[in-house]
Amino acid sequence: MSVESKKRLIVAVTGASGALYAVRLLKAGLESGHDIDLVVSDYGKRLLIEECDLNLKTAEFGAWLDERYGPAKRTGKLTLHREQDLDASIASGSQRRHAMIVIPCSMKTLAGIAAGFAANLVERAADVTLKERRPLVLVPRETPLNLIHLENLMRVARAGATIVPAMPGFYQKPQSMEDLADFIVGRVFSVLDIPHQLFPAWKSSD
Ligand SMILES: Cc1cc2nc3c(=O)[nH]c(=O)nc-3n(C[C@H](O)[C@H](O)[C@H](O)COP(=O)(O)O)c2cc1C
Repeated sequence: MSVESKKRLIVAVTGASGALYAVRLLKAGLESGHDIDLVVSDYGKRLLIEECDLNLKTAEFGAWLDERYGPAKRTGKLTLHREQDLDASIASGSQRRHAMIVIPCSMKTLAGIAAGFAANLVERAADVTLKERRPLVLVPRETPLNLIHLENLMRVARAGATIVPAMPGFYQKPQSMEDLADFIVGRVFSVLDIPHQLFPAWKSSD
């Protein structure tokens, strides 16, 4: 991978359902050679355990991926940060990163970002990403949505974030949960102009 195409991404995982979206994004990102700063909220950790049987306290992520999906070469570097660490590198705008992705994004974290309430490293890094005018992609997951959720989504969109809702399409005929998750991950990468082959391009009839 050329130096220009290698990205430095911040990935935040919060306590909304859909931990598999995060797993698949991390897998694809690291295998494509991108460096990732990862921060997982307490409830994000809980959902990774409940939905994916991944305990970040006891399992090494690379080994866990190899066991679940078969061995793969990951040339990207993964750096883990604690949610409480407000003096982490990614809490400062002086540390250059290409973009930040919150996947999945809970309504609580969405509210924090919408209010500029940077109480933990996820919210702080998102706040910094917006103030530095770098791409921020949120993958919210909740249903149904109340007016507060909808207003918060509009607020962050107006502030420059891109919303990629966890709403996979079915026209690609997904065969597995991984296919469904990869559809959303591919959408996130497309928004960020990151090349991927996570799903085939739509074949138009014209
Ligand atoms: C099993 C489980 C599933 C949850 N799913 C969602 C969800 O889909 N969307 C959401 O906004 N919150 C969901 N929550 C609630 C959040 O985890 C909770 O609001 C938490 O405070 C979020 O904190 P965080 O954003 O710092 O991770 C869920 C909680 C649990 C225990």
